[in-house]
Amino acid sequence: MPEITHLLRPDIAALEPYHPIVPLEMLAARLGRPIEQIVKLDANENPYGPSPRALAALRAYPHYAIYPDPEHNLLREALCAYLDVPKAQIICGAGSDELIDLLMRAFLTPGDAIINCGPTFGMYPFDAQLFAARVVSVPRSIDWGLDIDAIAEAAERERPKMVFIANPNNPTGTLSPRDQIERLLELPMLVVVDEAYAEFAGESVVDLVGQRSNLVVLRTFSKWAGLAGLRVGYGVVPEGLVTHLWKIKQPYNLNCAAEQAAIASLADLPYLLVNVDRLIAERARLFAALVALPLIAPFPSRANFILCRITAGDGQQSAFAIKQHLEAQGILIRHYTTPALADCIRISIGTPAQNDAVIGAVAQFVPPGT
Ligand SMILES: Cc1ncc(COP(=O)(O)O)c(C=O)c1O
Repeated sequence: MPEITHLLRPDIAALEPYHPIVPLEMLAARLGRPIEQIVKLDANENPYGPSPRALAALRAYPHYAIYPDPEHNLLREALCAYLDVPKAQIICGAGSDELIDLLMRAFLTPGDAIINCGPTFGMYPFDAQLFAARVVSVPRSIDWGLDIDAIAEAAERERPKMVFIANPNNPTGTLSPRDQIERLLELPMLVVVDEAYAEFAGESVVDLVGQRSNLVVLRTFSKWAGLAGLRVGYGVVPEGLVTHLWKIKQPYNLNCAAEQAAIASLADLPYLLVNVDRLIAERARLFAALVALPLIAPFPSRANFILCRITAGDGQQSAFAIKQHLEAQGILIRHYTTPALADCIRISIGTPAQNDAVIGAVAQFVPPGT
């Protein structure tokens, strides 16, 4: 058999393998618990799930044998009303992840730079390396705010093509104020504001897209609408740019089921927004309960998760130990190996009962070596 791996792109061949998430069924088997008993608070999913109207639309849709609309016209029309932006500015994707990839595909050639303001969503640097781009790091400050002056300096020095700002930021939960985004928009690069968690923050810069030729806003149905498994996201993109994205998008990127569920979700806003309000209220309750506990210091959050620093003993060791302690009780949370977050965990907001389970388990945690 001919050996062909030497024909691979050398930069792809050299990439570290990606660590995929473990599916629920396998997790349940590993933890020796039924799926229903697993408290899954590690990926910022919505514990209330999809709207009943979305589920009914999925059952009722009669045309699964037909390819989906490559222009996702019906969903874009529904989004116009939701966002109050022109249909021509909207393009949809299989999750906002696909839009991140599409934007990089459109802008980056090998050696081009992006600015990454870590700690932040890992897909920005991950995707950038697939385009052999340089990732210029401009870390967030001690309180996780953006360092706008340092971004401006890096923009001057490195001439990056684009900057990605998750707002609110994952995993810190920080919301960068509008005036900071406006300052970034003065810089000569594309500013991608990733608003995956905007519904939990109640603030958005989507209204600026029509006024600024270098602003793209990304949104998703994964978090507030409980459709993470169906993969529906969208970009609000200046008309001069969106035409180029249409040229390179896979024609059938958004499948029929995803489109139907998203349209039905937008028709069931009151139901879904009640759940968003519940999660916001639970965010405040969980925060207050965690603040009151020793050994753990939560950061204020505008999203559907809370980042916490573990202050007990060796923070890094304790962060891993607390993750394992929670996992032993069927509670999954996110733990990090990156140096800036090695002593941190991120807890997605769950239902009141799930959050009670977290609070109880954290309260019982005994750090290693004590
Ligand atoms: C900041 C941010 N952007 C985008 C995504 C991906 O969202 P989607 O499910 O729409 O691909 C996530 C998911 O965790 C995220 O945290």
